[in-house]
Amino acid sequence: MQRRLLLAALAAAGLPAWAADKKLVLGFSQIGAESAWRTANSTSIKQAARDAGIELKFADAQQKQENQMKALRAFIAQKVDVIALSPVVETGWGTVLREAKAAGIPVILTDRLVKEADESLWASFMGSDFVEEGRRAGRWLVDKTKGGKDEIRIVELQGTVGAAPALDRKKGFEEAIKADPRLKIVRSQTADFSRAKGKEVMEAFIKAEAGRKIHVLYAHNDDMALGAIQAIEEAGLKPGTDILVVSIDGVKAAFQAMVAGKLNVTVECSPLLGPSLMQAVKDLKAGKTLPRRLITEEGVFPSEVAARELPKRQY
Ligand code: AHR
Repeated sequence: MQRRLLLAALAAAGLPAWAADKKLVLGFSQIGAESAWRTANSTSIKQAARDAGIELKFADAQQKQENQMKALRAFIAQKVDVIALSPVVETGWGTVLREAKAAGIPVILTDRLVKEADESLWASFMGSDFVEEGRRAGRWLVDKTKGGKDEIRIVELQGTVGAAPALDRKKGFEEAIKADPRLKIVRSQTADFSRAKGKEVMEAFIKAEAGRKIHVLYAHNDDMALGAIQAIEEAGLKPGTDILVVSIDGVKAAFQAMVAGKLNVTVECSPLLGPSLMQAVKDLKAGKTLPRRLITEEGVFPSEVAARELPKRQY
């Protein structure tokens, strides 16, 4: 196509002239590969970048904030068009975000938010409402355990210390279970969102609670719940029956565990953020203002619907 015609076509599509000359470059700092959710999230972002014709510089931080800071600084030095960040923890981002702002590079927060008073340091946040996810898990439990025993003893596997989903899912769950004073969290510890640590910490809970009944396991993600299910079985107990298992994410393996009767409910948290992220990158570069928050719509899937829903799951 002649350049003149190309420019006219771009203008008609509401795109600026630079779009004819340059591929947009997005630097993305991913947390790591701690869970099936995270892997699905990385796949979604890589695929969406390819589909949108955006050059993606992908940096895996292996769970370390310092690696994310290094990646952000490298993106600034490379003068990428936009930076996307999934922050491993909430705090400590002010300096590096100010550096991006000073360099004129907009930052989109994806999946997790940061806690910084100056909200002009990022252009938009897209992801889930983690407090609401915790509430949904808690409400399901209140409903499920209505009219039963005098005391319902819960053990909790928390996500990464200082991470938004760990803090918020704890908060939302505690808020919801206040509705029933019989529900008590008797032990709570981090297992870093990983299956191996979920198993390890659940083994320690079972040992520490020997002689006392654990009625419920609440895990901040499916991977930790799946690890804990193994620990419960190895202790000679039946997950899903002897201990109710409540978790968050909605990955395929959780649905398979529900079909097998080992997990009771998963609250959905969608990792499929790639397409909205690429749209936001294009909108930003076309001079549009992004919404401050783009919250994903999500559901709650109890075991009763697992067999029907499993074939439809995308991650
Ligand atoms: O930030 C989203 C959370 O991080 C997911 O629930 C979890 O599986 C992941 O590691």
